[in-house]
Amino acid sequence: MRALITPVDGGTRVRPVAVPEPEPRPDQVVVEVRAVSVNRGDLSLLGMLPPGSRLGFDVAGTVVRAAADGSGPEPGTRVAGVAERDGWSERVALSTARLAPLPDGVGWTDAAALPVAGLTALYALRHAGSVLGRRVLVTGASGGVGRVAVQLARAAGAEVTAWAGSAERMKGLTGLGAATVASYEDGPGATGPVDVLVDSIGGEVLRGAYQLVERRGIVVCYGNTLRADLSLPFDWGHARPGVRIRYLHLFDEMPRRPVGRDLAALLRLVADGGLDPQVAFTGDFTDPEPALRGLDSRQVNGKAVLVL
Ligand SMILES: NC(=O)c1ccc[n+]([C@@H]2O[C@H](COP(=O)([O-])OP(=O)(O)OC[C@H]3O[C@@H](n4cnc5c(N)ncnc54)[C@H](OP(=O)(O)O)[C@@H]3O)[C@@H](O)[C@H]2O)c1
Repeated sequence: MRALITPVDGGTRVRPVAVPEPEPRPDQVVVEVRAVSVNRGDLSLLGMLPPGSRLGFDVAGTVVRAAADGSGPEPGTRVAGVAERDGWSERVALSTARLAPLPDGVGWTDAAALPVAGLTALYALRHAGSVLGRRVLVTGASGGVGRVAVQLARAAGAEVTAWAGSAERMKGLTGLGAATVASYEDGPGATGPVDVLVDSIGGEVLRGAYQLVERRGIVVCYGNTLRADLSLPFDWGHARPGVRIRYLHLFDEMPRRPVGRDLAALLRLVADGGLDPQVAFTGDFTDPEPALRGLDSRQVNGKAVLVL
């Protein structure tokens, strides 16, 4: 079977190569993969992992071998799940705790787009507590996680403000439920106080957004896309007593969360039309470069998916 690996022999291209078949642990099913998605985290890993490393977390496909411990779905079940950085492959072993069956009507591309982005957005909002009737600011709202966070916050009863980089990148955010949409530059002046800030940008964007958070509000960070040191105003705590700041990492969350149940809930929302994973680019698994380049250069207004 074939899998995508980081470039070898001084090359720059991610390409499919022959790899051994997966050897599942007792708690893993084997899935024939039909679609995978690209996360910004994959792009970061691409630059950090040694040549020839396997890649990929988000997969959707059909179970072809049940888990030996009897914990998971039967062969023939369509599933989506989170792989262990080896998901960009024709077949993969998936932990039964990190997958969910696909409801009828949810297609491969939507299913593959959802696991990492959907679970990250869901857990970020869970950290915030109830957002019913609260004002929620989502930065990075144009991205894969941000677009889901906007929809989930709105569905949970929040008044949502979405920040993105440009008019082009803001497209569709009002339709997803944002009451206010602004750019990073204009946002701090154009946005009123908020109760919850969900940030993935860091740096100056987080600094500007932080100053809108009300007393006893909550800041949930799940990324530092700018890779900048965080600097807050000198009166950061005095002016906003009780503000909580949390950092969320999905792979730290997953061992203590019912990931399968949560992913199933997100997939049900998709099936019911209450959540759109926002697939904005679909490419072929054997030619991943356009998807990787498109996401890297911020041309993809949502998720990039590769189909097999
Ligand atoms: N903690 C976790 O477990 C976890 C899980 C998933 C993702 N993440 C992180 O969360 C962030 C967003 O992930 P994603 O999958 O939603 O990414 P994405 O789809 O590629 O979106 C990237 C977002 O970052 C914004 N951005 C601002 N400045 C940027 C810059 N200089 N370069 C690139 N993007 C920039 C983009 O906004 P504009 O283009 O509109 O400016 C866009 O909204 C990433 O840093 C990712 O690594 C963390």
